[in-house]
Amino acid sequence: LREHEEFTKVKNIATIELGRYEIETWYFSPFPPEYNDCLNLYFCEFCLTFMKRKQQLQRHMKKCDLKHPPGDEIYRSGTLSMFEVDGKKNKVYGQNLCYLAKLFLDHKTLYYDVDLFLFYVLCECDDRGCHMVGYFSKEKHSEESYNLACILTLPPYQRKGYGKFLIAFSAAYELSKKEGKVGTPERPLSDLGLLSYRGYWTRVLLDILKKHKGNISIKELSDMTAIRAEDILATLQALELIQYRKGQHVICADPKVLDRHLKAAGRGGLEVDVSKLIWTPYK
Ligand code: ACO
Ligand code: ZN
Repeated sequence: LREHEEFTKVKNIATIELGRYEIETWYFSPFPPEYNDCLNLYFCEFCLTFMKRKQQLQRHMKKCDLKHPPGDEIYRSGTLSMFEVDGKKNKVYGQNLCYLAKLFLDHKTLYYDVDLFLFYVLCECDDRGCHMVGYFSKEKHSEESYNLACILTLPPYQRKGYGKFLIAFSAAYELSKKEGKVGTPERPLSDLGLLSYRGYWTRVLLDILKKHKGNISIKELSDMTAIRAEDILATLQALELIQYRKGQHVICADPKVLDRHLKAAGRGGLEVDVSKLIWTPYK
């Protein structure tokens, strides 16, 4: 999905059925013209094929043999699994995911070149299969060093810490690679996207500052976290932890101020357990 300058189109699909949820949509999504007369769409929760009628979905579920997203399982911890889907190898799945995601993402237009993207699909797994809770996408080669293009937690799963988990995962995955690249999310961020990123950055940076008693540079913070220096500076400036001395930004982390911020920063969210990464990186 890409930024667009057009006006936001009128919402077309009102609700979707996905797994055991009926979900009210938020925004327009450019489904193919044959779906123009549809208010409700029925998605196969595994292959993301969408249909106009419930009976079609029921027939589909009898013959669909997927029980999890296509692609490699690259993380498993308890009932939580992450699948890496290559848009080139699973084009239709990638496109269906984009149609679905656009229903909840404003300020993005559908980008049809799913070939160029990897999709990281987070699932809650039980004996019926792996149920998608959200995902993020990532360009295989980003010139702007974006490590995340789009992020979504499906509405029934929001405010449970999955968004922060997805953000932390995108950084942990980056860090576990040898290049040690820093990254940043594609702009613009939605209000909820900015809130989630600000929350994640704040938490991560405050924890490190507390451990190092503030004796650390922005560059070192960036190397440790894979967070881009500009994002670190903006986060610390918002927390009033930066002073400008002799032409340089310096971190001034008074322990009392850190504690006050840490209390206000709220829940840490679900932890990414790096030892649970199943190592099959895209080449
Ligand atoms: N109201 C107020 N604050 C919120 C809300 C809300 N509705 N939702 C999230 N937040 C803030 C909170 O600070 C929250 O932390 P807290 O619960 O500890 O207070 C923090 O964001 C993250 O909460 P999570 O539970 O970890 O995140 P969630 O699973 O809800 O997912 C996400 C966040 C992905 C942004 C979700 O809201 C979503 O999918 N929104 C629609 C799509 C979207 O806007 N995506 C981002 C676009 S920008 C981009 O893709 C680069
Ligand atoms: Zn299916």
